[in-house]
Amino acid sequence: MKFICLTLLLVSGITDSRSEQYKVVGPADPVFVVAGEDVILPCSVKPSTSVVDMRVEWFRPNLKDAQLVHLYEDREDGNTDQIQSYRGRTKLIHQELQKGNASLKLSSVQISDEGRYKCFIQSKTWYDDATVNVSVEVLGRPPVITVDGFDYSGGLHLQCESEGWYPEPDLEWLNSEGLPCHSEMKFICLTLLIISGATDSRSEQYEVVGPADPVFAVAGEDVILPCSIKPSTSVANMTVGWTRPDQKDSLVHLYEDHEDRNTDQIQSYRGRTKLIHQELQKGNASLKLSSVRIFDEGRYKCFIQSKSWNDDTTVNVKVEGE
Ligand SMILES: *[C@@H]1O[C@H](CO)[C@@H](O)[C@H](O)[C@H]1NC(C)=O
Ligand SMILES: *[C@@H]1O[C@H](CO)[C@@H](O)[C@H](O)[C@H]1NC(C)=O
Ligand SMILES: *[C@@H]1O[C@H](CO)[C@@H](O)[C@H](O)[C@H]1NC(C)=O
Ligand SMILES: *[C@@H]1O[C@H](CO)[C@@H](O)[C@H](O)[C@H]1NC(C)=O
Repeated sequence: MKFICLTLLLVSGITDSRSEQYKVVGPADPVFVVAGEDVILPCSVKPSTSVVDMRVEWFRPNLKDAQLVHLYEDREDGNTDQIQSYRGRTKLIHQELQKGNASLKLSSVQISDEGRYKCFIQSKTWYDDATVNVSVEVLGRPPVITVDGFDYSGGLHLQCESEGWYPEPDLEWLNSEGLPCHSEMKFICLTLLIISGATDSRSEQYEVVGPADPVFAVAGEDVILPCSIKPSTSVANMTVGWTRPDQKDSLVHLYEDHEDRNTDQIQSYRGRTKLIHQELQKGNASLKLSSVRIFDEGRYKCFIQSKSWNDDTTVNVKVEGE
């Protein structure tokens, strides 16, 4: 019997001293997410150990009434007391729990999701928690610039309007060299407007790519102006625009909210431009231009804009007579 007693003692001794070293760890920085998208709130046990048999509770400590965001207990999700607005939007990946990963997946993020979350993990012998701060951003409508009138000095008053941003964005007028404008340079400022503070770092990996060399077209024939997003991803839900930077950035073709919207298109392009909607799903925003004319020659800008990101590229077109 001596042998059995010794073994038991040893086992219990090990568990106790070891469990005190476990820690629940969250992210060092706040988690940023764009409203409408999904987000992972990171939380794990270090050193890594399975939390399958533990209690995992995600809650919002700063809310007055209900606080429960997600509960996992007795090896299942128990969300009857969950805050109403989280219903159906939270998920713990049970396979990940085996690896000590109690990260919460939150779908279709809303502004009200912004704030502090606690990830609380409890075993029979031990508990700890970590805090995750969530910041939600809403990307507003693309800015619209209108000419508001002239003043005595011959300057132009320009008005820039855009709504729906959260939190309040920074607005900056830049001149053609990318430097901030002074008030006396108002006129030049027409060329470029940048709204910062809205781009999230994740999506900065995408790039809009055009051809390295000019595109040669023959008058009277059709031509494709290449433009695509790299790495390839569907742009069907994004805004795709083609403009003429050498003609005050006037509109050649606009695709927005899943449709072509060409009411503001330059008159001479009417009926001659086409984006292939199937190609948009492959990240190909190339423009088909029919019956090329001599004055189609020049610079074209292809810009792609999603909720969280935008980029553009320039395509040079050379037209040769027949
Ligand atoms: C979360 O935000 C609070 C203030 O609201 C701050 O005290 C805390 O350090 C932040 N924690 C993390 C992990 O970002
Ligand atoms: C934890 O699980 C989430 C899914 O819930 C996953 O996205 C993430 O990569 C995992 N983290 C680690 C460190 O494995
Ligand atoms: C595009 O938006 C539709 C709803 O408007 C959505 O069902 C679909 O999943 C979205 N596709 C992508 C690739 O984001
Ligand atoms: C992109 O779409 C155009 C049609 O608009 C097509 O001619 C071209 O081959 C496509 N490019 C790629 C790389 O698939």
